[in-house]
Amino acid sequence: MEFVGVSDMVGWLAATGVEQAIAGIAGFLEADLRRWPTLDLAPRVADYSPLGVIELMPVSDSETYAVKYVNGHPANPARGLLTVTAFGVLADVSTGYPVLLAEMTLLTALRTAATSAVAAAALARPDCRRLALIGAGSQAEFQALALRSAALGIGDVVVWDTDPAAAAKVQRNLEPLGFTVTVSTSARAAVRGADVVTTCTADKAVATVLPAGWVEPGMHVNAIGGDCPGKTELDPAVLRDAAVFVEFAPQTRIEGEIQALGPDFPVTELWEMLTGRRPGRTTAEQVTVFDSVGCAVEDFSALRYLRDAVRGTPWVKEIDLVPEPDDPKDLFGMVTAASRLPA
Ligand SMILES: NC(=O)c1ccc[n+]([C@@H]2O[C@H](COP(=O)([O-])OP(=O)(O)OC[C@H]3O[C@@H](n4cnc5c(N)ncnc54)[C@H](O)[C@@H]3O)[C@@H](O)[C@H]2O)c1
Repeated sequence: MEFVGVSDMVGWLAATGVEQAIAGIAGFLEADLRRWPTLDLAPRVADYSPLGVIELMPVSDSETYAVKYVNGHPANPARGLLTVTAFGVLADVSTGYPVLLAEMTLLTALRTAATSAVAAAALARPDCRRLALIGAGSQAEFQALALRSAALGIGDVVVWDTDPAAAAKVQRNLEPLGFTVTVSTSARAAVRGADVVTTCTADKAVATVLPAGWVEPGMHVNAIGGDCPGKTELDPAVLRDAAVFVEFAPQTRIEGEIQALGPDFPVTELWEMLTGRRPGRTTAEQVTVFDSVGCAVEDFSALRYLRDAVRGTPWVKEIDLVPEPDDPKDLFGMVTAASRLPA
């Protein structure tokens, strides 16, 4: 049983490069999206409370099963805690044995970014230059790197956060990576003239981070932060005037921006666009929205990419999570044998 903890994840990422890791996961994800109908997927199991949500996200193919535990608690940073934390497991379908246990707080930021990259590569105009980043918390830098790794020409980032220290942190982290970063004086000023708008705020409320009047022809909106009932970021009019793309419609209709609209509001799932069943962007002036909520397939892709990437490196450890008795029917004998050992 292999284990990748936080320090090993950080070490692997520092050696690999965050942008390269995002691109690697995006490659796995795109391949998985192209075989979407073969995956066994259900909307995630969510436990809602006034302060947040705890979710379990299972998915499998004929060989591998994955499940992630993840929370979302927007008030946590005020208590010195992360909004989102996660861990996950890969298991062998033929034996049911878990084979990899991994931290997934960083891996979730990577896979959420990789999903934004896959969506933006297909939906944003190819001549994009400027990103408006609304929300400068844990996901922010990963999201900026994702758009660059999607081969968009994103080099300019204009960042806005209600917390000026968070916006300054993004500037400090992104400028050494080759971005030109401007801390905006308002959300309105950040969005004006942007090619891509990423909203990644955390607020357990029906918020209007992006009013419809701010949206310009040809924009791609990468909406990350609305991911739970009663927690959205976009003016519903933005969605009505755009082509809307989602990961998994049955889940997004409950959790995403489109929860504000009727059950028949037309959306396209990413896999349908990637396999040519449904169109993506059709004109340069069209506004496209990726209504991201996070889907188990992304964790499945990320965990399998990680398993392959760390194999044989110092960033993966063996742990004894599953007993290995000499006789598989004599589990009790393990205790008997241990009690005979000298104290
Ligand atoms: N779609 C997905 O797959 C996915 C994955 C991970 C996280 N998320 C969501 O993305 C969001 C961001 O996650 P995070 O880990 O970066 O959270 P975070 O708490 O670290 O950062 C959120 C930031 O948003 C800012 N903010 C809140 N309201 C704002 C507003 N109206 N305007 C501007 N800034 C505002 C906060 O000051 C904070 O800096 C959360 O809502 C989280 O649930 C979605």
